[in-house]
Amino acid sequence: MTYVVGEPCVKCKFTDCVKACPVDAFHEGVNTLVINPVTCIDCGACLPVCPTAAIVAGTDNPSGWDIAEWKEYNAFYATKWPVIDESKEPMEGAEDLKTAPGKLRDFDPNPFAG
Ligand code: F3S
Repeated sequence: MTYVVGEPCVKCKFTDCVKACPVDAFHEGVNTLVINPVTCIDCGACLPVCPTAAIVAGTDNPSGWDIAEWKEYNAFYATKWPVIDESKEPMEGAEDLKTAPGKLRDFDPNPFAG
């Protein structure tokens, strides 16, 4: 089992997950985070702290977005994006976009450059 960040994270990046992670498994894109499946120790500390419920384990996903697709995104972008090891302020408008549908179309594949 591995943990996966999915669509609800897009345009939010609350980063509470980063604070909870003991092994720096999160990587940062322009408007989304992903979990590195190689670094992740499957502790589950990140799952309950995400305000958007963007993190899921295994195939258990009550929110409906495509977990298989996001599993691939996590594995792929973890090799492209820098590690984020400190939490930060959420993105502007994150509170209003927590449960917004269809955020996949806004997913930015570029690495966060600071
Ligand atoms: Fe994203 Fe949730 Fe972390 S919104 S940055 S997965 S706390």
